[in-house]
Amino acid sequence: MPNPNPAPLCDRPIGVFDSGLGGLTVVRAIRTQLPHESIIYLGDTARVPYGARSPETIIRYARTCGRALAARNIKMLVVACNTVSAVALDVLRVELDLPVLGVIVPGASAAVQASRSGRIGVIATTSTVASGAYARAVAAQSSTAEVHSLAAPLLVPLVEEGWLDDPITEQVIARYLAELVPHEIDALVLGCTHYPMLHGPLERVAARVLGAQVAVVDSAQATASELKDFLSQRGLATTLPHSTLKLMVTDRPQQFAAVASRFLGHTIEDVSLIDL
Ligand code: DGL
Repeated sequence: MPNPNPAPLCDRPIGVFDSGLGGLTVVRAIRTQLPHESIIYLGDTARVPYGARSPETIIRYARTCGRALAARNIKMLVVACNTVSAVALDVLRVELDLPVLGVIVPGASAAVQASRSGRIGVIATTSTVASGAYARAVAAQSSTAEVHSLAAPLLVPLVEEGWLDDPITEQVIARYLAELVPHEIDALVLGCTHYPMLHGPLERVAARVLGAQVAVVDSAQATASELKDFLSQRGLATTLPHSTLKLMVTDRPQQFAAVASRFLGHTIEDVSLIDL
């Protein structure tokens, strides 16, 4: 039987999904910039990492996550995962009857604005780099900017392990960033959901290895700003005074709750386990 009092479209939650816990960086940025918006988050912890999988597999996984959220009465979908945004955004836009926002275009715009020289570095997963999505998004905004992309896959397990402030993590970052030295970049995009959790070490090491002129661009913050503009332009901003956050994962909800509590700065007890 249809709900006699469905919530107006603008007061429905925003669906956010990622391959795992890294998308909480986007949740945190949305909650800071849009504190009244309710969020339903899905982390596909049973199948993380997506970052080295084939485009066909990433599209298949993205479809199941997108459909699971679309079935929960959301007003729009934010794809927090850079790898999915790079490979499967168009498929989701065609197949889902909802506005879908990814993280690549906001991150690329922020980088174009931050760079004076037009030489932009991007660190991301192997599949995001292979897709060329950041280079295309930057080229759509600037005919002169050049993008130098580098896969930095080891940073994902270091974050998952909680080694956020660790000399070994700094060494790994330094080893990766050394490869960007010849390109003399002045903006570095954190093109993976997990990397903003290493914002401090990445900024320190980038200044040391690449020079103090390098601006570190966080695609999570850029996405939240774009979402804010999108909601107000479409008349989709909520009218409700209080927000809710519902978290769902496909595996190990307790472990997710522990990391989410640490990362979001308050206790998260209720994480639901769902099957896709
Ligand atoms: N969420 C992925 C991304 O932003 C990183 C983790 C993974 O490889 O699944 O690209």
